[in-house]
Amino acid sequence: YNDDNWKFIFPILFNFVMSVIVYFLTVRLIPRIKDMFVKANLYGIDMNKKSGEKVPESLGVVTGCLFLITLFLFIPIPFTNYIFNDINFPHSEFMEFLAALLSICCMLLLGFADDVLDLRWRHKLLLPTIASLPLLMVYYINFNSTLIIVPKPLRSWFGFSVDLWIFYYLYMGMLAVFCTNAINILAGINGLEVGQSLVISISILLFNIIELSGDLWKAHQFSLYFMLPYIATSLGLLKFNWYPAEIFVGDTFCYLSGMTFAVVGIIGHFSKTMLLFFIPQIINFLYSVPQLFQFIPCPRHRLPKYNKKTDKLQISTVVFNKKDIGSLGKFIAWIFRKLNIIKWQEDDHGTVTCNNFTLINFVLIKTGPIKEPTLTLILLLIQVTSLAFLIRYPLASIFYEV
Ligand code: UD1
Ligand code: MG
Repeated sequence: YNDDNWKFIFPILFNFVMSVIVYFLTVRLIPRIKDMFVKANLYGIDMNKKSGEKVPESLGVVTGCLFLITLFLFIPIPFTNYIFNDINFPHSEFMEFLAALLSICCMLLLGFADDVLDLRWRHKLLLPTIASLPLLMVYYINFNSTLIIVPKPLRSWFGFSVDLWIFYYLYMGMLAVFCTNAINILAGINGLEVGQSLVISISILLFNIIELSGDLWKAHQFSLYFMLPYIATSLGLLKFNWYPAEIFVGDTFCYLSGMTFAVVGIIGHFSKTMLLFFIPQIINFLYSVPQLFQFIPCPRHRLPKYNKKTDKLQISTVVFNKKDIGSLGKFIAWIFRKLNIIKWQEDDHGTVTCNNFTLINFVLIKTGPIKEPTLTLILLLIQVTSLAFLIRYPLASIFYEV
């Protein structure tokens, strides 16, 4: 029995030690390498600072590579026992591992391409879908279980379980698209992209640890292998991206993170629970829909506006004429105004000044102008408090027997 326990703990421990090492590597590597990014024309201007310096961008590619290297070196560890004792090698588990790495690796490449080439919106939707194909294929071969348990209140209509068939694959593909983009559009202030990803990954980590004692421990152990080095490299990144940011993480990081979460959610069979870790991102997405789909004009950047005199951030606005938006746009604006969730000013000529529909601006409407790091902290606090644990365990019993 003790021997079994050890086999179960050993890979996790090994992974943990590797993660600690890779954290220190990240922290040492970033300052040395960041000037190379400016030389390669990979930089952005921090719009919320006075200085207007060139800030190296897409440093997510550095942490992404370190993350992948850690996992590449780790590959044999969970399988040593099978290799040395020559007993039935778990090919399907091995395949899952490789497919997961392939999807993440693919997304890292595509994310970096986006940073360098500044791709269009439709590509941002297409890329994660393509990168998730290897994973879906493995899911098909290994599980092909598209059966879901119906929540209690709906059972009188649908029965105990339904087979979603192809739609479940569609859902999993969309999950990758959602996770990657949802993080990318809740962005624009120092430390927010990495901060939120860290809160999400730490939530997943805690969830995995709790579930290690359950029946599905293998899936959660698998997820831990990815989460530990992910958290380590992202912590290293946060150190330099926190206010005042020395580096930007770039879309590379957002894509890599979203894909990593989608991968562990799908292979770990907790893709529905996973969405509960994304509540602020879901709210931000729903709030953004009118602008994302152009019912309301959407500027290239929606990040808050910087006030040089006070050194504080205030809401950013979009100005347009009421005549220029369609009836659907007018209807949405009417609902949002009734719900009192936007700031809308209209003059006699029909010129409208309205805040950009982001959760960041929404917080600013409620708090008034505040300093940048305070705003990041408030948003991270929202992420922490919306934590799924509070929801999953008590709320789950209404929907499922637990
Ligand atoms: C997304 C958002 C956009 C937001 C941008 C900020 C949507 C549809 N898109 O676009 O509204 O303005 O992210 O990242 O919601 N920057 C800062 N401070 C930061 C982080 C970024 O000033 O802390 C600026 C820098 O100029 C940087 C640029 O944002 O170069 C990066 O923007 P990018 O990631 O290319 O924007 P998108 O992801 O396309
Ligand atoms: Mg971005």
